[in-house]
Amino acid sequence: MSGTKSNTESYKPHITPTCERLAGKSALVTGGARGIGKAIALRFAQEGAGVCIVDKDLPEAEHTAHEVEKLGVRAVALKADVSDRAVVERVVQQAAESMGSIDVLVNNAGMIVFGSLMDCRVEDWNAMIAVDLSGAFHFTQFVGRSMIENGRGGRMIHIGSTASVLPTAQQSAYCVAKAGLLMMSRCAALELIGHNITSNLLCPQGAVTDINRELLRNSAIMGALEANIPAKRLATVEEIASAAAFLASDEAAYITGTELLHDGGAVISGLWWR
Ligand SMILES: NC(=O)c1ccc[n+]([C@@H]2O[C@H](COP(=O)([O-])OP(=O)(O)OC[C@H]3O[C@@H](n4cnc5c(N)ncnc54)[C@H](O)[C@@H]3O)[C@@H](O)[C@H]2O)c1
Repeated sequence: MSGTKSNTESYKPHITPTCERLAGKSALVTGGARGIGKAIALRFAQEGAGVCIVDKDLPEAEHTAHEVEKLGVRAVALKADVSDRAVVERVVQQAAESMGSIDVLVNNAGMIVFGSLMDCRVEDWNAMIAVDLSGAFHFTQFVGRSMIENGRGGRMIHIGSTASVLPTAQQSAYCVAKAGLLMMSRCAALELIGHNITSNLLCPQGAVTDINRELLRNSAIMGALEANIPAKRLATVEEIASAAAFLASDEAAYITGTELLHDGGAVISGLWWR
């Protein structure tokens, strides 16, 4: 630990939400209690959308829902473990009933088990796939069916990672789950575009959240990570939420089946050295 702030901690983005861009829409954000999901929930609310926060941590989800409500929109908090299909089916129905419809789905809930493929325990492998991949599948299917039935079109945003497209050291099971999400997003895009429903993968390189806070408190690890990113810093969760708000908006109606890398140039920098 050092007393000096990292580039990431020092950076303060200037972000201006687009007023009313999502007015009249309802969004369901999984894992919306904290971190990136919370930033997305708040950003959507600032742009006029009602938000349903689904998380396994109900007290924190309710806390975030109160913050969303203070922005003048409807907010609902529901408890679910995204890997439990029966619970997901019930929660999607409850969300659609209390919000009127679900216009935007953000598959954001996720966890990470660090480690190599060779050392990965089968329990950890199964948990990674169940939460980060199958959890998103359950929501995509139940919300997709509900969007089709409503006939209002829709937006699906799946939170992948640079690990969706690049093998990342000591994150093997996570990479596989996030790469699976990429293909699920593309398949959903082709199956659903006829219903005016888009599906895209938003791939952050990183931001400091509970998923990595302990690790990145180590200034040597944070410094090495920042040095490997051309932008020399991680993103803020608000910057990631800006990209999600764009993908959720009418402005992105023609964008489907694609991956939006949100990575400060990390993925393209592989063999670039001088
Ligand atoms: N933070 C990063 O650097 C980073 C980088 C790339 C991708 N991502 C992805 O962004 C997403 C959000 O991560 P974050 O950094 O905000 O993490 P976080 O730990 O701060 O938040 C994750 C949220 O998901 C919820 N959650 C976890 N497992 C769940 C389950 N089984 N059912 C329901 N809710 C569950 C947690 O309770 C928590 O509220 C994840 O999919 C993660 O893989 C994060």
